[in-house]
Amino acid sequence: MLKVTWLGHACFVLEDEAHRIVIDPFLSGNPVAAMKPEKLQVDAVLVTHGHGDHLGDAVPIAKRCQAPIIAPFELAKYCERQGATIHPMHIGGSHQFPFGTVKLTIAHHGSAMVGDQAEYTGNPCGFLVTMGGQTVFHAGDTGLFGDMKLIGELNEIDLALLPIGDNFTMGPKDASIAAGFLRARRVVPMHYNTFELLNQDAEAFIDSLPDGCSGTVLAPGESLTLD
Ligand code: NI
Ligand code: MN
Repeated sequence: MLKVTWLGHACFVLEDEAHRIVIDPFLSGNPVAAMKPEKLQVDAVLVTHGHGDHLGDAVPIAKRCQAPIIAPFELAKYCERQGATIHPMHIGGSHQFPFGTVKLTIAHHGSAMVGDQAEYTGNPCGFLVTMGGQTVFHAGDTGLFGDMKLIGELNEIDLALLPIGDNFTMGPKDASIAAGFLRARRVVPMHYNTFELLNQDAEAFIDSLPDGCSGTVLAPGESLTLD
């Protein structure tokens, strides 16, 4: 059993009977965030890239929960400099954690912590997380790419979390093609309707999904249980 909760934008909580993890916890400053970062209790914090709408509250959550930040090497080292405990990984690598297995995939995007100056945080990634007997693919921020077919061939993806907001990532049309490439059983759209620039019709996206792939639109704070 795996419970998947969308907290808005690209932030998801995954939990089974024993563990809870969060991916891309952008909650402070997120106009649609469904939870205060102080309320979140997790065993690990996964971050796809260094942009503020993904790194978000990762460091304070990791410190408070004494949970490691799992991220691409350069981004993990950045988080370590901010005082967090880290588990650095990189694209193509997988690791077995107490909560499950994490494998990093490519994502075609940028990655820097952009404050007064941009700080290099390596390559962005997506995550394949196997936990509670389910495999979830969080694509991160990315455009459509052909190797999604390979990811789909090599993994049985129970749920794909795909950006549909366009402009910075795939839009709905490309995300629908991605769902087919990934052979995902189920899709939940993300990275849309956070800001006006990212407004999309999620129901129309669900209707466009290929045969054999079912889609679910979650509202921020809503959950889906896979078993
Ligand atoms: Ni980004
Ligand atoms: Mn983003």
